[in-house]
Parts: sequence; C-alpha cells; structure tokens
Amino acid sequence: MCGIVGYIGQNDTKEVLLNGLEKLEYRGYDSAGIAMLNAEGINLTKVKGRIAALRERVDNSIQATMGIGHTRWATHGVPSITNAHPHQSTTGRFTLVHNGVIENYNDLKKEYLQDVSFVSDTDTEVVVQLIDKLYQKHQDTVEAFRETMRLLKGSYAIGLIDVEDHETLYVSKNKSPLLVGLGDGFNLVASDAMATLKETDQYLEIFDKEIVLVNRNFVEVQTLEGSVVERKPYTAEIDASDTEKGTYAHYMLKEIDEQPIVMRNIIKNYQDENNKLKLDANIRSAMKAADRIYIIAAGTSYHAGLVGKELIEKLANIPVEVHVASEFSYNTPLLSEKPLFIFISQSGETADSRAVLVKIKEMGHPALTITNVPGSTLSREADHTLHLYAGPEIAVASTKAYTAQIAVLAILAVDTANVKGIQLDFDPLQELAIVATAMETLTGQKEEIEQLARDYFETTRNAFFIGRSGDYNVSLEAALKLKEISYIQAEGFAGGELKHGTIALIEEGTPVIALATQENVNYSIRSNVQEVVARGANAMIISMKGLEEDEDSFVVPHVHELLTPLVSVIPMQLLAYYAALHRGCDVDKPRNLAKSVTVE
Ligand code: F6R
Repeated sequence: MCGIVGYIGQNDTKEVLLNGLEKLEYRGYDSAGIAMLNAEGINLTKVKGRIAALRERVDNSIQATMGIGHTRWATHGVPSITNAHPHQSTTGRFTLVHNGVIENYNDLKKEYLQDVSFVSDTDTEVVVQLIDKLYQKHQDTVEAFRETMRLLKGSYAIGLIDVEDHETLYVSKNKSPLLVGLGDGFNLVASDAMATLKETDQYLEIFDKEIVLVNRNFVEVQTLEGSVVERKPYTAEIDASDTEKGTYAHYMLKEIDEQPIVMRNIIKNYQDENNKLKLDANIRSAMKAADRIYIIAAGTSYHAGLVGKELIEKLANIPVEVHVASEFSYNTPLLSEKPLFIFISQSGETADSRAVLVKIKEMGHPALTITNVPGSTLSREADHTLHLYAGPEIAVASTKAYTAQIAVLAILAVDTANVKGIQLDFDPLQELAIVATAMETLTGQKEEIEQLARDYFETTRNAFFIGRSGDYNVSLEAALKLKEISYIQAEGFAGGELKHGTIALIEEGTPVIALATQENVNYSIRSNVQEVVARGANAMIISMKGLEEDEDSFVVPHVHELLTPLVSVIPMQLLAYYAALHRGCDVDKPRNLAKSVTVE
C-alpha cells in the first residue's frame, strides 16, 4: 500500500515522477505528493485525492534533477494535504516518502522527539524528524539515516532527500517492497518496476534492512552495519504495453477479457515438447513429501485457495487446509508432521501472507508461492515459485489472477497425482483449453450480462450469492467482487445454510443469485432458490450447459466439473463490473481500497 517513486538524473524529474505515480496509483489513492530538488531548494506539492489532481497542481516550470513522489493509502491520519507525503523535518533539511507502518513511532517520539512539534498525524513524520535529530548528533546524513533505520520497528520503504546533497537519494526498506531502477546517467527508485518501465528494464533488488545510496551514475547498497554489498541487476520481464488500458474504458474490463489468453499462456508455459506437464522437480518432491498442505492467502486469492483445496484433495489425495493469512499468524493451528505451505498471492507482496511465511520459515517448514510477480517478496522468500503468467493486473478488483491461480492449482494437483502414481481420467491442459474457449464465449456475451446487472442491481442495497459444493466457493468470490466495486452489501452463502438464519434478511425484491453448475447438487440448490423466491427474492439462476432449466437467467458453456469456477466466475465478474458502472462507481479504483496490501 502506498506507492513511492524517486529519480536522480538529468531528465525531467517532474514527468518521471508523475508518470511513475500514475502507474503506482493502484497501491493507494487517498492523497499524493512530490518533492523536487534544484538550485533554489526543495519544491513540494501535495494534494488530497488522485494523481490527476497532483498533475494539475504541480508548477510546470520547475526543472529539477532529483525528486521523490508518493501516492497514499491512509493508515495513520485521515487523507488530507497535511498527512500526504512527502513529509519534511522542521528544519526543512530532510524530505521523505514512506510506504509501510512504523510500529514504534510513539516510543520514538517519546524517547527522541519530545521537543519537536509535529504537523501531521502520520507515523512517517516521526521518521523524518528523527533523521534530522540524529543528523544534529552525527553531522553526517548517512550515519543519521543508518541509525534511524536501526531504530525503526515495523514495515517501511523509504526515499529521502537531504536538501544539502544534490548527488544522493537515500533509500531503505524493511518488509515493504522497493526496487532500484538503473539507467544511463540516471537512476530510479520505485515500489514496483511497472512504475518506471518507460525509463528502464534493469533493476536491482533491495533486501530488508539494507540502505542504498542512489547517485545519478552509481548505486551503492550497504548493510545496516555499513558493509558494501555487491549485487547484479536483473531484467524486468514486463512488457510496458501490458500496463496500458488501450481502447478499454477500464482495466477491469480489459483484464476480464484477457482471461482466455491467460489460460493459453498457462497451458504453453506448463507444457513440455511432448505435451506433458512441465513442473520443477523440486516442487514435485515437495508436493510428494507433504502429508498435509496449508494454503495461506487473502481476499480473492483465498477464494482461489478454496477451489485449490478441492482440486488437490480430489485429484492428488492430500489433505488441504485453507487459511486467511491475517488469522493464521496469530491463531496458528496444530500442524501435521510434514506440512507444505502454499502461498497464493497475485502481487506476492501481501503483508499478512508474508508474516505467515516468515513464521513458518522460522519453524523450518517448506513453502511454495503461487504468484503473478516472480521477483516479489513472497516469491523470493519461499523455497519454490509457480508463476501465473497472467500479465500485470492493474484494476484493484482481481479477475484474471483468480482464474490463473485456479488453473495453476489444477495443474499442480494433477502433476502431484502423476508423481504419486494416481491414475486420473483428467488431462488438465486439454481441459483448460476447453475452458479458454468457454471464457471467450462468455466475454462475448457482455450485453446480456449488462442487462442482468441493470435488472438486478441498479437500485438494490444488498444481494446474496448462493451455491453448493464448488459453486459455494465461487459465490464467495462473486459477493466480494460485487461489494468491493459497487458498494452493494453482498454475501456469498452455502445454499443449504441460508435457512439457518440468514434467510431472515430476504425481503420483497432482494436479489439472490444462485450458481448451478454442479450435477450432484443441482436439485438441492434449485430447492434453495424456491425457498427464497417464496419469501419475495428476485432470483437469478446461472447454470451450466447440460444442467440448465427453462427458468435460468444465464447458461455458461459446459466444462469439466472440477473447473466450473473458471467459467461461472466470468458472468459474476461482469455483473459486478456493470453494476458498479451503472451506479457511477470508480470501477478500477474503488473507495478505501488498494491493490497491493503491504501493511498487516
Ligand atoms: C479483491 C482483491 C483482494 C486481493 C487480496 C490479496 O479483488 O484483489 O482481495 O485478492 O488483497 O492480494 P494478493 O493476491 O496480491 O496477495
């Protein structure tokens, strides 16, 4: 959460920072700001709201060769200009941007900064004031920076400007993501390589508790103890054009439409020249050795994990538990003797999941990360990684990552079954190819789905999604999609469970969307629909070809029973999209949210 970008070089600092922040806006959009340094000193511009407002406010005549920028997702202090970054020390010497949460900011304030008057409510201002205070002691910026970083507890990615030093951008990180981008005659800092792909594809990783001195011609990485670390850059393999919206009105719609291509990318990348599954031998051994799998994830990735549990248990015959990451850390269940942890994360940066990863690594357990960003923290710190090959997902509401996660989990489950000698009548590559075609059919039916969104969601305050078995998992994701972008209060429910209490909420006209893609529960879910209709619900049934009945509102093409979530979720995503659109919501940047949740 929060995005930071920094630049030192010869070019137009302002444009690099603003372009970078526009690309990072998915990380938070409560407020934004940039600070640029030139011969006249520091020029600071901050706004409440979006980068577009910042662009309008910034003085276009400013020329500068160094700067830092920030887009905020508020943690400490309301979204406001005062709480927006960059923050400055009272003397005006230091200016700083920060992503993360400083857990001991109150202690630091009491111990070191009693005499300082703070202007903001943020934890960040403590950091910049502390650097200034320690500068007065050391008379050396690197020493002051180093000592401050040693004192901080919590998560941070920091970019710092010293107004007296036009040659160095001071950078450090712990738990929050930060990269250095390398150029010719300039260097950059960014929370995510996507922010600066226009400038470079060469990046240097920064590890936790390192400090980095970024000059226009060189970059020096140091440990907190001061020893210099040698590290080779890597090439970011993201196509800059993948991060553009093209002719689409919203990233979300583009990403929904990309799902057939993503399925085909996954097939291509997990298939060898003999059309057999291709997976890393170490992953195979880890899966084979596990007596129980613990899937750890948050939000939509957690919902993909629920589908993954069914796939792994049914196909590979290994018991699976799925846990919400933020709960697991503090309420850890009894573990089996040979557990394998699977972290599912689109961004690979989710702080709640990372906290679990750190914990289970300390306990000595193996970990596999399934992610869309192979160089991400969760990928680097786990023993193994499986890549989603979904291309950058920019819309805050996750769509193509969810289906990619399920597809990769299906491949993993079948591969494990093969390794364990379990005979299956299920070729995942062939079945996923059928899914890709079905997805294409569905994304071609937008008008029909848009009309359903008008009929059911235009004015409602709430909605229920029901399903049984595999459909129940999708109903949870469908409800999350609808609520996060349209702000309609939505709940996903097991069809049979509704009558044990929640049916009390059904009133005349309450939308209830039932999924009916599972043969063994087709009859019972339809009975549940009758129960809510009898109480006035406005019911919509979404069924699968072969199981459909006359009263159904929409029928998805037939795919293998284990893979129905991959197709039934598409009309759910589109329903949420059109509901939000018609209710005038900001589809790609829903209120209060951020794409990459890097605080616990
Ligand atoms: C919802 C959504 C979130 C994420 C969750 C985990 O549309 O995108 O619920 O799924 O924040 O993020 P990752 O997958 O990056 O760990």
